[in-house]
Amino acid sequence: MALTLLLGVVAFLHSRDGNCQQLDIPVHAAADSAVYDLPRVDNDLEATAWAIFDATRTTPHGIESIIRNTTTSGTFNIHAQLCHPHLGSSKDILQIATHGVHYDSRYWDSTYQPAKHSYVDAALKAGYSIFTYDRLGTGQSDHPDAYTVVQAPLELEILRQLTLMARNGTLYSLASKTHYNTTQPSKFVHVGHSFGSFLTSAFIARYGPLSDGAVITGYILNEYLASAGSTSFSVEYAGKTFNRSSGYVVSKKNGIQNIFFGGDPKTAFTPELLEYGNKIKQPVPIGEFASAFSLIGNPGPSFRGPVQFLLPEFDFYICRGDCKGLADVKILNQTYPNAAAIEAAIQPNSGHALPLHNNATAGFLLTFDFLARHGL
Ligand SMILES: *[C@@H]1O[C@H](CO)[C@@H](O)[C@H](O)[C@H]1NC(C)=O
Ligand SMILES: *[C@@H]1O[C@H](CO)[C@@H](O)[C@H](O)[C@H]1NC(C)=O
Ligand SMILES: *[C@@H]1O[C@H](CO)[C@@H](O)[C@H](O)[C@H]1NC(C)=O
Ligand SMILES: *[C@@H]1O[C@H](CO)[C@@H](O)[C@H](O)[C@H]1NC(C)=O
Ligand SMILES: *[C@@H]1O[C@H](CO)[C@@H](O)[C@H](O)[C@H]1NC(C)=O
Ligand SMILES: *[C@@H]1O[C@H](CO)[C@@H](O)[C@H](O)[C@H]1NC(C)=O
Repeated sequence: MALTLLLGVVAFLHSRDGNCQQLDIPVHAAADSAVYDLPRVDNDLEATAWAIFDATRTTPHGIESIIRNTTTSGTFNIHAQLCHPHLGSSKDILQIATHGVHYDSRYWDSTYQPAKHSYVDAALKAGYSIFTYDRLGTGQSDHPDAYTVVQAPLELEILRQLTLMARNGTLYSLASKTHYNTTQPSKFVHVGHSFGSFLTSAFIARYGPLSDGAVITGYILNEYLASAGSTSFSVEYAGKTFNRSSGYVVSKKNGIQNIFFGGDPKTAFTPELLEYGNKIKQPVPIGEFASAFSLIGNPGPSFRGPVQFLLPEFDFYICRGDCKGLADVKILNQTYPNAAAIEAAIQPNSGHALPLHNNATAGFLLTFDFLARHGL
């Protein structure tokens, strides 16, 4: 008890250029869903068998893998963190950040050397408010059925509901007044990483007017996307180690390195960063992978803000290890024809987990510079 209190105080004292508060938000959402043709995963052997099934060249993906179309609705607990810069340095802009698979919201807010590796700290320092949340199925949010509930369209609707709450003030009424005396920001920038970028790009495509700007990190639609295959995740069953139900899988440490760490191993990241990246990993429900196709390549004529695509140079899963030359602004313009600006940038000598590489801070600045150049 005393130790818990002490740790609480220490966590509170972690100095940043702002205040943060943890929230548990009941989110009501409804979406199309499906029963997919998937094997069951209840042990380690079946986890590897699922990965081989998923990576097999003749296994159907997308609409062909649907056995039955369904709908899902419910109220889900979403754990979140809302941070606001110190008064005076604030920009009137809230970033809404969505993390990818194999992680939860801690992806954005490293407690290991936060001054160098926390995107949240960097955003506060640059004057942005920032909202991060554990996607459904991860962290301290609810962990419903891995096959039929945690699916991409539902997660898109959860992101929409959270955005509506941010825009209409509900989010701020949930936050304690002892931490926040500020009025809610009036502009909203959506930031994604990896699967969170699938969601963010689909969100601005479908609900363009709800977003004033977007930053898509660690994702670009290209011919090598996911070509490394699910066996590269090196998964085991998450039932015992993470207390998850059937169908949740979790990467072993070598899978975390395969997917998230890249570049020159002597200079791009340290063994400590890999260790931390492994320590904060999260299980993934396999229905999420099966339904991810619905988020890809949706045209977004209603999005009118600026959008930045930020790619790690040596992203293995997204670009099969080399992203150079894969972002074509002309093609991106076909997807977002009315965007105020479209830019693509490469963060050199980095793998997929941008914040967990040595030069992360310089990468964060590429984003803040892009936003500032476009009035955000
Ligand atoms: C499910 O819905 C999609 C989209 O409407 C449709 O193309 C597909 O044929 C349906 N699948 C089944 C099995 O009903
Ligand atoms: C704000 O948006 C949320 C999410 O859609 C909704 O539940 C709530 O009723 C809205 N509140 C107001 C005051 O409009
Ligand atoms: C917010 O305002 C209240 C009452 O005016 C005050 O007691 C509190 O210290 C303020 N909090 C912050 C973070 O400024
Ligand atoms: C494991 O999860 C179940 C279902 O969510 C919950 O009832 C139980 O308390 C959890 N056990 C532990 C040890 O956390
Ligand atoms: C996208 O293409 C259209 C048509 O060529 C052009 O008018 C527009 O300025 C382009 N947008 C960006 C952001 O480059
Ligand atoms: C660090 O990142 C910045 C921004 O992308 C880049 O300009 C710089 O060359 C990088 N430094 C190294 C040592 O890779």
